[in-house]
Amino acid sequence: MVNHDLGKSSPRLETAVIRTQTPSSPHREHATSIYMSSSYRFESAEQARAMFAKEEDGYIYTRYGNPNVTEFIDKMCLLEGADAGLALASGMSAVYSALAGLLNSGDHVLASRSVFGSTHQLLTRILPRWNISHSYAEIAQPETWAALVQPNTRLCIVETPSNPALDLIDLTWLGEFCRTHNIILIVDNVFATPILQRPLDFGANLVMHSATKFIDGQGRGIGGVLVGEQFLIDDLTFFTRHSGPSLSPFNAWLFSKSLETLALRIERHCDNAEKLTDWLTNSSQVTAVKYPHHPSHPQYELALRQMKRGGGIVTFEIKGGLEQGRRFLDALQMSSLTANLGDSRTIATHPASTTHSSLTEAERQAVGITPGLVRISVGLEHSDDIIADIAQALDESAR
Ligand SMILES: Cc1ncc(COP(=O)(O)O)c(C=O)c1O
Repeated sequence: MVNHDLGKSSPRLETAVIRTQTPSSPHREHATSIYMSSSYRFESAEQARAMFAKEEDGYIYTRYGNPNVTEFIDKMCLLEGADAGLALASGMSAVYSALAGLLNSGDHVLASRSVFGSTHQLLTRILPRWNISHSYAEIAQPETWAALVQPNTRLCIVETPSNPALDLIDLTWLGEFCRTHNIILIVDNVFATPILQRPLDFGANLVMHSATKFIDGQGRGIGGVLVGEQFLIDDLTFFTRHSGPSLSPFNAWLFSKSLETLALRIERHCDNAEKLTDWLTNSSQVTAVKYPHHPSHPQYELALRQMKRGGGIVTFEIKGGLEQGRRFLDALQMSSLTANLGDSRTIATHPASTTHSSLTEAERQAVGITPGLVRISVGLEHSDDIIADIAQALDESAR
């Protein structure tokens, strides 16, 4: 239903994402309208029957589909190189729907140890209620993964780069591994975005996003998306149509509009993150800096192979640990203290006391979250201003 307003040429991806749009109404609006309608009128009883029977295409009810949601999904499929997709109310509803919609009681999941805190809660506390078990595999030890595969291992879920440790998984290796063992591979691509990394090109079957992050990019709405192979999306569409975590048309409209500037924004996030990384590397108050495209990253070679650029997130360890970390956060004058990331505004987060506080100390250590770890989601402000704010806060925290 989306009109690819692309003319006769075959445009580049950035152009296609900007020009893909729902056909306009008789008012000839240039920007897509927001279709805030719970349901859609049928022209006749026969049309209602035919649409429910899937003999005729068309919107029925917004829990099943909506023009803004379709436009957003179509653009995400273009960007990720996917056959089909599904948009959901949050990133976590995308993770939950993928797991609950594809797994059966008795199945086993293989997951990289560094997964988002709520994904960890799903695996360890919610799915076991339905007799679905999991094993965590160490990100940096691919040679140990085969021993964790069981006859009932149906699905593998990984995050690369991981939040917040910025550890990477070799997607070429993992795509091959999952194919060999006949396991569905789901990649959480929130940190890289399709501008920097397209997991389906490496053999993933599904890609998941929290649209709340770089896709929205301005900290306004919560949403999620799953894209990938048609037969998996068909199964998941059945699951979500009846379990109900649909994305609001308004948020779909926000995200779809934001995709027009995603490539541009990601370039600037990367420019700023590189400059901040270089600056932090020379700071006397910082003991370790981590950024995928910096030579000090333990998986620098892999990052260069797999990601076009290093992304918008930088982490560092403050010399004085937890206490100096607290003083640093309180001393920031421009950067925001919030639990989000991927915003146009620079955000500083202390994962141990916020996003990953529900993990035990041992669980945090296992995924590289030390008490003094600070995560910076580098925004789109002028890089000199970002660095100046962080520099003055580091100075203040050292007093
Ligand atoms: C890597 C990653 N995956 C999933 C999520 C969950 O997304 P949402 O908050 O939109 O539910 C987040 C949120 O921070 C995330 O960082």
